[in-house]
Amino acid sequence: MSENDHPLDLTRLPRHVAIIMDGNGRWAQRRGLPRVRGHLAGVESVRAVVQEARRLGISFLTLYAFSEENWQRPRLEIRALMALLRRYLHRELKEMQDNQIALNAIGELDKLPPAVQEDLARTMAATAPGAQMTLNLALSYGGRTEIVRAAQALGREIQAGRLRPEDIDAALFARHLYTGNLPDPDLLIRTSGEYRLSNFLLWQTAYTELYITDTLWPDFREEEFNRAIAAFQQRERRYGLTAEQLAANAGAKER
Ligand code: FPP
Repeated sequence: MSENDHPLDLTRLPRHVAIIMDGNGRWAQRRGLPRVRGHLAGVESVRAVVQEARRLGISFLTLYAFSEENWQRPRLEIRALMALLRRYLHRELKEMQDNQIALNAIGELDKLPPAVQEDLARTMAATAPGAQMTLNLALSYGGRTEIVRAAQALGREIQAGRLRPEDIDAALFARHLYTGNLPDPDLLIRTSGEYRLSNFLLWQTAYTELYITDTLWPDFREEEFNRAIAAFQQRERRYGLTAEQLAANAGAKER
């Protein structure tokens, strides 16, 4: 199917798309290959989706590249994933700079191997100027830990006398998350057919539209990405209001 089968309204793009990239292992197993080969193919999907998101004009793309729970995987697989990540950062630096893509990373970054931390810091600094899109990698990331860390930071501010408990509201809390300077995702895509959040962006997805596809991540390329955006554009986002209230609000805005 071509992109023309799903004409996109470029004036109604999601501002922030988040993706749970699942199914690399299954993709490899089905071909009788080691799991790492699935991750290798998954990197090609990362490249394709980043490029397509930028081409469409999406401002923020967050990819769940390594969860807190992923530290429990076999040592060799973790090493391979870290090596793939480093290779991706080296190879894509020029592409990111040429296309005004800034790299950002969220998660317990100090748990990553020092060489990965250094590569991330270097890439973030080198891609920041003039960026039109942010590629946000969730690494050693867990949504509950993120919320706990925000609570701890606020607790410290109260203890230091800089904040009163009653001053804490949702906006202030959100600013203390790793994503403090990013808008909430409008669309969350999950590949390979599982219907769960797996500890990803738990706070930020309160009103996010979910799109789940059976396609395994290594098979998820620009066409599938466009299909997900087209599905998003068919949705009516009500934020708890009735359809009539929404129509009235839209009318008021137009007047
Ligand atoms: C899930 O597949 C995928 C991951 C745990 C890692 C995702 C990593 C990449 C796509 C490559 C490196 C990332 C970047 C940004 C260069 P799975 O192994 O859980 O699949 P399974 O559920 O079928 O076993």
